[in-house]
Amino acid sequence: MAVKTRIRGIIAVRSIGFSLSMSKRRILVTSALPYANGPLHLGHMVETVQTDIWVRYQQLRGNECIYVCADDTHGTPIMLRAQSEGITPEELIARVAAEHKADLDAFDIGLANFYSTHSDENRELTYRLYDALDRAGHIERRSVRQAYDEKAQMFLPDRYVKGTCPRCSSPDQYGDACEVCGATYSPSELKNAISVVSGTTPVERESEHFFFKLGAFETMLREWTRSGTLQTAVANKLDEWFAAGLKDWDISRDAPYFGFEIPNAPGKYFYVWLDAPVGYMASFLNLCRTKGWGFETWWKAGSETELYHFIGKDILYFHSLFWPAVLHGAGFRTPTAVHVHGFLTVNGEKMSKSRGTFITAKAWREHLPTEPLRYFYASRLGSGLDDLDLDLNEFVAKVNSDIVGKLVNIASRCAGFLARGFENRLAIKLPDPALYEEFTDQAQSIGELYENRDFAAAMREIMSLTDKANLYIDQNKPWLLAKDPDKATDVHLVCTQAINLFRVLIVYLKPVLPRLVAQAEQFLGGQALDWDDIQRPLLAVKINAYEPLATRIDTASVARVLEVDKPVEIAVSTDIKSTNVKKPDGDTATLIDEVSIEDFAKLDLRIAKIIHAEQVEGADKLLKLLVDVGDDKTRTIFAGIRSAYEPTALIGRLTLVFANLKPRKMRFGVSEGMVLAAGPGGKDIFILSPDTGAQPGMKVK
Ligand code: 2FM
Ligand code: ZN
Repeated sequence: MAVKTRIRGIIAVRSIGFSLSMSKRRILVTSALPYANGPLHLGHMVETVQTDIWVRYQQLRGNECIYVCADDTHGTPIMLRAQSEGITPEELIARVAAEHKADLDAFDIGLANFYSTHSDENRELTYRLYDALDRAGHIERRSVRQAYDEKAQMFLPDRYVKGTCPRCSSPDQYGDACEVCGATYSPSELKNAISVVSGTTPVERESEHFFFKLGAFETMLREWTRSGTLQTAVANKLDEWFAAGLKDWDISRDAPYFGFEIPNAPGKYFYVWLDAPVGYMASFLNLCRTKGWGFETWWKAGSETELYHFIGKDILYFHSLFWPAVLHGAGFRTPTAVHVHGFLTVNGEKMSKSRGTFITAKAWREHLPTEPLRYFYASRLGSGLDDLDLDLNEFVAKVNSDIVGKLVNIASRCAGFLARGFENRLAIKLPDPALYEEFTDQAQSIGELYENRDFAAAMREIMSLTDKANLYIDQNKPWLLAKDPDKATDVHLVCTQAINLFRVLIVYLKPVLPRLVAQAEQFLGGQALDWDDIQRPLLAVKINAYEPLATRIDTASVARVLEVDKPVEIAVSTDIKSTNVKKPDGDTATLIDEVSIEDFAKLDLRIAKIIHAEQVEGADKLLKLLVDVGDDKTRTIFAGIRSAYEPTALIGRLTLVFANLKPRKMRFGVSEGMVLAAGPGGKDIFILSPDTGAQPGMKVK
């Protein structure tokens, strides 16, 4: 039997065969700040769930562990997105923050604070870090040449210039890299470059930029890398970057820009990636000010507190090179470790709207319970950078088997006997203390697996104990014992044993299934359990009536979630009443008599702005349009309206588009939508009047 004592922040546990004494740790944890211009999807949830499980585990062990996050609100995409919706960036980020918060709450992400990088605290800290870096000589100003849009009067980030790849001549490539041949280049090297903001040809302009001299931090970074806290694959990647040489980092952008203006440099703004990680500190500072906590203790150089960043592998460079160097250069502590995870695939495919594998957090929470997904992620997450697959059939099978079939089954099989024969009171002793000890003996190894983020292995160990608990019930058959009045004591003992095994299991699963475990704690008498409580079994007390803790998930509701964000193919709809008619040329055409309101609701009809239009060589009816439909990507659409319009007359005009039409491969390229125009044909094909007041992205309601 273990004896647990708590002496002001020190936990000491003594138990048979193992003794451990440790100080309470003080840990600050973050996950990457999501951009404030789009919804959270299930890929984001892998990271927040992983972080949350780790944080809840630390808290369960009695450590002080604080998890903060925020929205990443600055930069050109957010500025342009707000413009295209006809709202201010502040309005956009407030709307998105509310959506993100609702998603995070629904997935039980236990954040102490979810804040914003567009905040006073972030401005204050960004200035403080920048000032310290500048004073220490780590900032250099020099002139750079960059693509400039004279019509929109703005410098263009590489992704806002499109054109023909200088290497393989593929059309429609971004200004930094070719998606077809993989070449990387600068926007000025693209052929036929156009600005995706205005559709005009960009020019090159000089401007003074501010650079952070990363190279000066090589020794410090090499030491930090070798401090033993980075995953091997991450450390290896860093070695590659060291070998290639650390380049200065451009931390400024010219107006117009949504962000923080650089002090004493009118018209110059901090690049979003400079103030984004400062957002970790700012969210914490905001919390400290609300709670009256000391911020400096946590962030001063040499702080004894721990700091962990959970991130995806795509943003490793920022977190393992720029961020520690910026912190160190400005006189702050560096992260204890950066925990990097892989990407999510759905049914074996990259998440993508056109493949029908894109699932937003909102779609999931509106159609399905969230906790089973937390469990599934846990069962697939290792400590490495491997990608993880959400195969929806496996998901259904796994949660139905492990949570409903195994875990909850232990309690539901025994609760009835305790209620009927013993007024829900547990027996005064365990009939099989050795089996109980076998369960509690796993605490150390399961704890280590949680600590090292090997959740998949932890879930395997827990599930094999769950099998043992069910086996115990199968072998002792309380349902048979209950038939014999002389065996009442045995029924009582067997059920008391099983309920106690269940109690150990729910403590082990508490970081993953906080909601289910809270209900189970209610069933067991209402006490919130911590990791060490399992050292004393629950005996001779009255527990509460059993309420079902989980229900099976059906495949049909999971299939429905895939439909929510999927582009529609009208033609396959069975609800459409149609008539086949022969056209004069002998082909068959389909006349649609009626469309149900449900089918109509599937159409994403939106206002789009034509930002570029050009003739298509070899096609006399078509124009190739580049349109902005209010999301973060411009689209190419081929439209049969050449007879009515000169391409230049269309630039800047608005039109209605069918935005979720499945992309179609045409002879001249892929068309990513359909322009809706009306008229008898020839010169008379009408799009929207230019003065409608509509804005790109507006939906037809
Ligand atoms: O890649 C992203 O989604 C960024 N918004 C992550 C920022 S993390 C941190 F540095 F702020
Ligand atoms: Zn190319």
